[in-house]
Amino acid sequence: MRRFTVKRRGTKSASGSVWTIILLLPLFFSSLLSAQVPAEYFKQNCSSCHTIGGGRLTGPDLKNLADRQSRDWLINWMLDPEGVLKSGDPYSAKLQKEARGAVMTRSPGMTRNLAVALLDLIDEESKLDKSQFAGTQISDRPLLPEDIAEGRALFLGTMKLKNGGPSCVGCHTVNSMQGLGGGRLGLNLTRAYARLEGRKGLSAWLVSPPSLVMNPIFKEYPIDEEEVLPLVAFLKNETERDEPENATAMINFLLYGIGGAVVLLVLFDLLWNKRFRAVRQPMVSESYHK
Ligand code: HEC
Ligand code: HEC
Repeated sequence: MRRFTVKRRGTKSASGSVWTIILLLPLFFSSLLSAQVPAEYFKQNCSSCHTIGGGRLTGPDLKNLADRQSRDWLINWMLDPEGVLKSGDPYSAKLQKEARGAVMTRSPGMTRNLAVALLDLIDEESKLDKSQFAGTQISDRPLLPEDIAEGRALFLGTMKLKNGGPSCVGCHTVNSMQGLGGGRLGLNLTRAYARLEGRKGLSAWLVSPPSLVMNPIFKEYPIDEEEVLPLVAFLKNETERDEPENATAMINFLLYGIGGAVVLLVLFDLLWNKRFRAVRQPMVSESYHK
């Protein structure tokens, strides 16, 4: 995998030590994120929140962006979105309101040159009938129980991901998988569907995960478009059953606890009685025979 490429390229001593890899990882990620052509950069860092001509996701559709603001404003925005917002700029305040409070943060490795190249790219893509960034058209059909089951299997790895990506359970968990015995280590995705704003947002996220950890892996072994819908169905189901699930788990826990205590008491009682009879009675009767 890629990690080994780093090792070969990056170490003269080729000691192969795990530490070298660990120390080189941050370098590897940052070089990966900055040294990219604009289209690739846009796909990895912007398309999870923005389409060009495919409608709003977390952020506004960027088609015909040039009609909305001056180049200078847009460059400043990309260099430091939070700074522009904090400066009290009314246009960005309006954008933020439309985005229901979501805030765009500065993208990794952003420079003035990159911002210019991205704005050129957005202008070019805006002229096309259908931009490559129009967003994935994930089917609108109702989600079926079979989709949830398939998504669960993909999540758990009992069904392999088509393009060879690692299964989610290696790094993630959801509440429904944590029994009374406590769960696995991992990031909990129970509320991911809600957090990433539903079907459209989560689908876009999965097609090109803007996560420092997932991005390099799933860029090489992408989640197939046909796998996105079942995974979304599964995670939607997890979000929806979250609260009742927790409440039932709590009640079950209490009931098991009380039930268990009662069973134990009865058992002890029986055992002690038996022991009393088994040990004491012969002694008692012995003393009578004296
Ligand atoms: C985490 C989601 C997210 C990511 C990733 C993101 N943005 Fe944004 N973007 C937003 C939101 C939300 C807004 C609206 C302003 C706000 O609320 O911060 C916005 C606003 C914008 C605007 C102003 C749009 C307008 O209508 O004037 C531009 C331009 C923009 N983003 C470009 C980009 C580019 C280019 C990238 C990638 C380098 C990017 N964004 C990455 C969420 C995101
Ligand atoms: C190698 C470990 C790894 C694997 C495998 C992995 N993820 Fe992730 N994932 C992460 C990490 C780490 C984050 C936290 C975001 C970050 O990197 O900053 C994350 C974040 C997420 C998020 C965003 C959660 C949120 O609330 O923002 C979603 C959704 C997600 N992963 C889905 C998946 C799915 C679905 C799979 C399986 C197809 C998967 N992940 C496989 C490591 C992994």
